[in-house]
Amino acid sequence: MNVLILGSGGREHAFALKLSESKKINQLFVAPGNAGTAKIAVNIHLSLTDFEAIKQTVLKNDIKMVVVGPEVPLVEGVHDFFLADAALKNIPVIGPKKDGALLEGSKDFSKQFMQKHGVPTARYKSFTSNNLEEGYTFLETLEPPFVLKADGLAAGKGVLILNSLDAAKQELKEMVSHQKFGDASSTVVIEEFLKGIELSVFVLTDGKSYKILPSAKDYKRIGEGDTGLNTGGMGAISPVPFADIAFLNKVEELVVKPTIIGLQEENIDYRGFIFIGLMMNDNGNPSVVEYNVRMGDPETEVVLPRIESDLFELFEGVANQTLHEKSFSVIDKTATTVMLVSGGYPEAYQKNKEISGFETIEESIVYHAGTTLKDDKTLTSGGRVMAITSLGSSIEEALEKSYRSIDKIHFDGMNYRKDIGFDVR
Ligand code: AMP
Ligand code: GLY
Repeated sequence: MNVLILGSGGREHAFALKLSESKKINQLFVAPGNAGTAKIAVNIHLSLTDFEAIKQTVLKNDIKMVVVGPEVPLVEGVHDFFLADAALKNIPVIGPKKDGALLEGSKDFSKQFMQKHGVPTARYKSFTSNNLEEGYTFLETLEPPFVLKADGLAAGKGVLILNSLDAAKQELKEMVSHQKFGDASSTVVIEEFLKGIELSVFVLTDGKSYKILPSAKDYKRIGEGDTGLNTGGMGAISPVPFADIAFLNKVEELVVKPTIIGLQEENIDYRGFIFIGLMMNDNGNPSVVEYNVRMGDPETEVVLPRIESDLFELFEGVANQTLHEKSFSVIDKTATTVMLVSGGYPEAYQKNKEISGFETIEESIVYHAGTTLKDDKTLTSGGRVMAITSLGSSIEEALEKSYRSIDKIHFDGMNYRKDIGFDVR
């Protein structure tokens, strides 16, 4: 069977590598892909919101399943587009329709959903320019720091955490009245600050049953010791040592089950991944920070290498609503990934630097993110360039392998964090 993966990052290279292990896959396509996916799949150049171009690609290449990596095509309705098209409607899409994608596409919707279905989350209220004054009053009832979230998608930048009340009021006004994040911030969620330690749990569901995938923790800040600007993610580990069985049981009972039942009660036929961003508080209880309707990047680069089962068969289960029949097993090892980024990232960064030394690496998996092929050279093309994943019997052992591999890789301006996992070792 031919399968198309939409996206171009480390997550999509990881999907492609994992799916390529399945005997049932004939030819993989990745759109637009990167230099890594080009080695194991056919890259197709297209825009992820050009659904007509996706349709032509699917029909021309006899594609029988589409796996959606990032959130934007889901929020814009790529799955609905397939269902509404006579030639595409029987081709399964792994990823929710627009109604389910609102869990990530609208913070206000996701908070209402959690409140209605009893999923633990921070207390909140939503505001627009019409009730700005009420927003100021609500802020006055909260303790600092203040958490402001643009309702819509804002390329990962729509969350502000502010220490002073004045700054929070000022930013609220900028967001709702001056379109700080465009339309995305015409509604703003203000919520209580949650104390604790963050981690993520991933769920794959066919709308009826679900599999809980390995937990992961990512390192978002550019600087060591979790300092400096936010990035898309500088590294990750899986499993998360403090997420023991007792905690994960609470996550399943208090978060996963009410989420799946809530989707059913809302008549949302959800088929795909749910990425649950969690805060574990001092008492060892989970609270949901956010839902995403896709896998995380770089979390995928530590979660998928630990899955023993055939990912394609799991996806077939999602498509046919037979996920409960599929076996699911996880490798009892620790995975770590370290992201190599380009000089300047996450601000303006360099591109088109030749990457060397990665082809001969044996003790790690090299997942390409922002890379491109030019003639026979591999060049950097994005801020996050490659994720170097290793498996080991401990975090230390896995990290040693990742860092040993990184010593062999070179490109001008290469930067990476040398302390991934520092807080849990
Ligand atoms: P989000 O886009 O909702 O994941 O928010 C981005 C980051 O902001 C999260 O990963 C958290 O580190 C932080 N954050 C969001 N909401 C809260 C909250 N209520 N309390 C504490 N930190 C938060
Ligand atoms: N690494 C966080 C995310 O994918 O949103």
